[in-house]
Amino acid sequence: MTTILDGKKLREKILDNLKSEVDKFVEKPKLVVILAGDDNASKIYVNNKKKAAEKLGIQSEIIFYPENVEEETLINKIEELNNDNTVNAILVQLPLPKHISKTRVINAISPLKDVDGFTYENSGRLFVNNSRIIPCTPKGIMLLLKEYNIEVEGKHAVIVGRSNIVGKPMAQVLLNSNATVTICHSKTQNLGQITSTADILISAVGKSVITQEMVKQGAVVVEVGIFKDENGKLRGDVDFENVSKITSCISPVPGGVGPMTITALMLNTVELYKKHHNVNI
Ligand code: GUN
Repeated sequence: MTTILDGKKLREKILDNLKSEVDKFVEKPKLVVILAGDDNASKIYVNNKKKAAEKLGIQSEIIFYPENVEEETLINKIEELNNDNTVNAILVQLPLPKHISKTRVINAISPLKDVDGFTYENSGRLFVNNSRIIPCTPKGIMLLLKEYNIEVEGKHAVIVGRSNIVGKPMAQVLLNSNATVTICHSKTQNLGQITSTADILISAVGKSVITQEMVKQGAVVVEVGIFKDENGKLRGDVDFENVSKITSCISPVPGGVGPMTITALMLNTVELYKKHHNVNI
């Protein structure tokens, strides 16, 4: 029998503890989310982030901009938020409209308020294993593995997907925890041959890629990718029905990594708040 890595259950446990901590703060942490454009999925994500923050007593604000917003407008707003002492955490929801330089906008965020850990400074710190903040999805996945006592040290972790948001920071976080890491991507040859050597397989692609033949008996499988199929049903990258017959542990979609990403965002917001306020962590 495979164990289901239940992200919803763990979210409740972590956020309950976090709420007790936030309750003790006189001045509440504040997260500001910037959303530019009309991406429907992004609107849902940012509203979920706001709801999670409100439940914890974390102040949150979403600033919406139209698709045709100028880059300078975003940069000016970020600079204003950098200088605002009541703001602890800033998140620019991705993707940004095509005419905007993602690199320039992300790097306008003060590294001390960069709740995603996406600025060059925070990415570099993760790279040299001296991180200030760990990107939310990799952090959430590590919390899930820890909860189920899944040891990563010495294990072969294979990540499918090399995005800056998930694949690359995930690889670095696992490497920093002494896993042996392989990253696969759209140009990888013999994908199945590589994934079938994984003790821990993390798929972050956003389309059906992982079938049972590609998975080793007893492996831990974590699915990050999520998309709607032709019938509008939410699916993950993994053929869950068949793959779950041979895994030791597997995360479901929905209810696995998704809730953990938001949980990690809340933890990161409170961590930044504590650093600003010199609270010991
Ligand atoms: N878009 C999809 N995932 C993320 C994330 O973790 N952070 C940000 N900023 N945008 C995203």
